Amino acid sequence: MKLTVLTVFICIYLKSVSSLFCYWNTGCPYKYFSSKTPYNAVRGDIRDSVAKLKGCEPVSIWGLFRHGKRNPGIDFGKSMRDALIIKDYVIASYMNGNSSLCAQDIQNLRNYVIDDEMFNKVHQLSDEGYQDMVAIGSRLKEAYPKFLSNLEKGSYTFRSAFGNWMEKSCKGFVSGLQEILDVEPATTDFDIIAPYTTCGKYQRDIKKNLDTYAETFKYQETSEFLAAKDRIQRRLGIDYILTNDNITSLYDICRYTSSDKMSPWCAMFTTEDLKVLEYIGDLRHYYRNGYGNSINQVLGQIPLTDLLKSFQLAKAGNGKKIVSYFTHATMIDMVYTSLNLFKDDIPLTAAHRSPERKWRSSKFSVFSANLMAVLNRCGHDDMTEYKVVFYLNEEPLIPLCKEGVCTWEEFEDMLKTMSVNTDICEFKSVPYI
Ligand SMILES: *[C@@H]1O[C@H](CO)[C@@H](O)[C@H](O)[C@H]1NC(C)=O
Ligand SMILES: *[C@@H]1O[C@H](CO)[C@@H](O)[C@H](O)[C@H]1NC(C)=O
Repeated sequence: MKLTVLTVFICIYLKSVSSLFCYWNTGCPYKYFSSKTPYNAVRGDIRDSVAKLKGCEPVSIWGLFRHGKRNPGIDFGKSMRDALIIKDYVIASYMNGNSSLCAQDIQNLRNYVIDDEMFNKVHQLSDEGYQDMVAIGSRLKEAYPKFLSNLEKGSYTFRSAFGNWMEKSCKGFVSGLQEILDVEPATTDFDIIAPYTTCGKYQRDIKKNLDTYAETFKYQETSEFLAAKDRIQRRLGIDYILTNDNITSLYDICRYTSSDKMSPWCAMFTTEDLKVLEYIGDLRHYYRNGYGNSINQVLGQIPLTDLLKSFQLAKAGNGKKIVSYFTHATMIDMVYTSLNLFKDDIPLTAAHRSPERKWRSSKFSVFSANLMAVLNRCGHDDMTEYKVVFYLNEEPLIPLCKEGVCTWEEFEDMLKTMSVNTDICEFKSVPYI
């Protein structure tokens, strides 16, 4: 008797608690979707960030950019399309009083029209992705209006890795600079901005090796993940038993349809669920592109040798004003790894998701993620010195040097040990297209 009363009490209590969670009016929806995080959710603004170093002027800018938001690839796209039907189950279960989603979230879900382009233009840069790249270019131009005006042939390099979503990202960025500029053609052959695509050992032993994803699979068996899965199932209140693949598909729909506007598809998840799903992305990136495998920090050195060379030339008076490369999250993660950035004392594993971890793909491997370095010349005549400032997603990157400003010596010391080591690749693999 006592137990029944208690049970009833708990149920009512739970019901009223869970129905409190409405996604549409939550003050700050959780927008950290690992590598599918919208750029605007994490970016700074280079116009506000530019270090106004006294008595200095810019000499050269070097940047490495991830492509902007793109549509899903063929396999994930197909799974997402299949999972769209779950929306009907969710609405039906709500009508039967079995779902704890709130009325407005259901209404928004019901009214939501999926943009077919997202599925039809497989792997293409989305319009939002293109606009984000244009906006970065134009903010950079505003931050350095004189320096980036009247750029002459030979004073700049813009090149993307092979693939039309990278090439279009490059074009978007360049058009934001509002100058008439040439873009170098992308190559399917070895390129310093995507060396892993032709690196046999990396492709075979890391990228295409299931062991790389072992922690990800293990995490999907932890009680933390299973609890999230159970929460999602109960929250939706549907008879259809969701598999891990179904949850991945729903999560993908949520994050691909999220932008500056919230997507009602994300109402299927609580913030806690989203944090659990985000961690799966962090584990993947950690082992495939980051500290989880030692080859990653070797490959990340390759574009950094270009940065050093580029600034050495600029310092000697023979450099370019701006060098910008457009590539994949893989490259940019590898570069962070070579720079010892976002390195946790304890490796990321399935066993423990630390909320304080430094390795957060949602912060640094987002769509349009970028690392820029600016070489400044300070002082006059025989009192000249050079300083380098790094920016991550348009915010000063503090950890590299004191207060984010590196002396030339610090900069050189950091990069001079880096090399282009392709022997480690053992054999050349045919790049995927
Ligand atoms: C759910 O996932 C399974 C595989 O795990 C798949 O066969 C099924 O089609 C998915 N259901 C929906 C509605 O997408
Ligand atoms: C709703 O829940 C009740 C009680 O668990 C169950 O009997 C019924 O089949 C459910 N209806 C639907 C549509 O899921």
